[in-house]
Amino acid sequence: MSKTILLTGANGQLGRSIYLELSPFYNVVPAIYKNISNLNLFNNNEIKLDITNKSEIKYICNEINPDIIINTAAFTDVNYCEIEKDKAVDINVNGVRNLLSAMKNETLFIQISTDYVFDGVSGWYTEENPTYPETYYGKTKLEAENILRGSNKQFLILRPNVLFGNDINSDASFVSWVFQNLKKQNKINVVIDQISNPTWTTAFSQAIRQCIIMKARGIYHYGSDDVISRFDFAKLIAEIFDFDSSLVHPINSENLNQIPVRPKKTNVDVSKISNEIGAHIYTLEYCLNQLKRLINE
Ligand SMILES: NC(=O)c1ccc[n+]([C@@H]2O[C@H](COP(=O)([O-])OP(=O)(O)OC[C@H]3O[C@@H](n4cnc5c(N)ncnc54)[C@H](OP(=O)(O)O)[C@@H]3O)[C@@H](O)[C@H]2O)c1
Repeated sequence: MSKTILLTGANGQLGRSIYLELSPFYNVVPAIYKNISNLNLFNNNEIKLDITNKSEIKYICNEINPDIIINTAAFTDVNYCEIEKDKAVDINVNGVRNLLSAMKNETLFIQISTDYVFDGVSGWYTEENPTYPETYYGKTKLEAENILRGSNKQFLILRPNVLFGNDINSDASFVSWVFQNLKKQNKINVVIDQISNPTWTTAFSQAIRQCIIMKARGIYHYGSDDVISRFDFAKLIAEIFDFDSSLVHPINSENLNQIPVRPKKTNVDVSKISNEIGAHIYTLEYCLNQLKRLINE
């Protein structure tokens, strides 16, 4: 009998990809936060769930009895986490605590964490490296990890690098921002000193499936094969989608005045998930070409 998976944040950038990748193989119950309209992705099978609401979680866990919970739900706006700290804690920390306490001991908890648990000074982070989040968002995500590590439940913590999904109109994705601006032939200023190995959500979702098959536990990093600056990434997007790459101009982070200051080198080492689990690590060129194919379908 196929496993039942409760997927929180199912309507988010990553949640949608996980749903598409896993639902052919598992009984995935997509849990959404706000009402959605004009989205047939879930065929009306979605349920409503606010992970800050303990009684709602308890009711749902009793009803569907999940074998696995995949928690992608989060307050992901790094700027607003700095301002609305209580809300950040409520969703990113207490939400995890609530889900954990409602689930059975045999249930596996898969938590989507982030590269922002690191300070971004050295880059090339392995799962063994000490964490040191500088942003409030990163601090709440690390606290959630620590709750899992301190629990007696089965858990898997996955730390993807900068995500981009398949919705080219998404506000959440750097790729969509570059695409939309270059399509309108707008000049864009892009930082040259923020380095990462950006993650295509479809590739990451395949890796999550592989982790389930291989019964992975503990912490794993995931990202693409390319370590790249935002500037070079924007140039690559221009090239793949046939836009004018001279519209992309390099700037330094200091020119952006981002509050909070973003960690600079957050690229993660992906050898553990590749070697131990057999997860595929793709080049950005491959991922962007696949995305282009999907958009043109
Ligand atoms: N984006 C990145 O670059 C990145 C990088 C590394 C790690 N991550 C992690 O990856 C995960 C997915 O990120 P994403 O980019 O897919 O973010 P996203 O598009 O913002 O998705 C997050 C989802 O969480 C939902 N949510 C917010 N508050 C909730 C609550 N109280 N109860 C239930 N659901 C709630 C949101 O619902 P609404 O849309 O209805 O508000 C949204 O669908 C997050 O855990 C994030 O920390 C992201």
